[in-house]
Amino acid sequence: MKLTMTRPDDWHLHVRDNDALKYTVPFTARQFSRAIIMPNLNPPNTTTQQALAYRERIIAAIPKKNKLHSQFEPLMTLYLTDNTAAAEIETASKSSYVHAVKLYPAGATTNSDAGVTDLKKCYKVLAALQKHNMPLLVHGEVNDPAVDIFDREKVFIETVLLPARQAFPELKIVFEHITTRDAVDYVLSEDHYTAATITPQHLLYNRNALFKGGIRPHYFCLPVLKREEHRQALNVAATSGNAKFFLGTDSAPHAKNKKETACGCAGIFSAPLAIELYARAFDENNALHKLEAFASFYGADFYGLPRNTDTITLQKKDWIVPASYPFVDGPVIPLHGGETESWQLLS
Ligand code: NCD
Ligand code: ZN
Repeated sequence: MKLTMTRPDDWHLHVRDNDALKYTVPFTARQFSRAIIMPNLNPPNTTTQQALAYRERIIAAIPKKNKLHSQFEPLMTLYLTDNTAAAEIETASKSSYVHAVKLYPAGATTNSDAGVTDLKKCYKVLAALQKHNMPLLVHGEVNDPAVDIFDREKVFIETVLLPARQAFPELKIVFEHITTRDAVDYVLSEDHYTAATITPQHLLYNRNALFKGGIRPHYFCLPVLKREEHRQALNVAATSGNAKFFLGTDSAPHAKNKKETACGCAGIFSAPLAIELYARAFDENNALHKLEAFASFYGADFYGLPRNTDTITLQKKDWIVPASYPFVDGPVIPLHGGETESWQLLS
């Protein structure tokens, strides 16, 4: 069986920087036409000028052999801090390359030390975003160590998102990598200014995957995998045909030795087989006919960008995912590495 669909976009992606780019960018360029590039470098990309320089480094890593792959477009973002100036949003919106600003609550995840300590400190920036119709992308977890890690998304909705939404009713917000039924219900309860991305790992796995026969660092990401009932709610949302839910892989590579250690990094690397993972998830839901809109239409529509016009073709055919891929300072282990995948992208 074959499935031809409009070429998808990845609305949430980490490609890292410098030497890492030649290992990460080709996987995404092969499948996706565009990707929203996360700014959580070390130090983070807080200015338009930094984002434009980062964009050039990414473009230099795009393979030029295949004409379609070579047209891959990185869509840049800025990292919001307590000190971001509202004027920076004006500069960003004038550049045609910066498409969004990312909120990381300070300390919530990888490279988020410079993140926001209290979103109220950024309300001038949010006003500027609303004015310029530029989306705010949120890592939706509170950073309060007193809150159970499995409840941090739900508490974020109540304590951060609801007040911000009340203050800025027409601010475009993407609730990134949602993981709970609470987040699905929240997004459904809001109007068209709120949308959400969903990752392949949160569609395919529940938190048991983290502890199957021992501790499994390659299934650890943030927000962490949740209970089965939440996974099911995400599958219903992704395959519902509701335009508020679209594809964002959150592919976040960390070298094997940074994951398999006493304090392993958060982040799952899915870029080499991202669209195949989503195809399997949609197939398992008997919803392959909903994949194209989720992967290729709704994100572009929300960002106000044209839909892609070329296509990709997937084939239902078992293949073994490589157990690892080369990366800076040693290998990186992909999601589903060494296992059988049921869909394959034909190049
Ligand atoms: C991301 C990373 O490694 O940059 N990690 C992750 O677990 N998702 C950061 C993030 O998006 O939270
Ligand atoms: Zn991310």
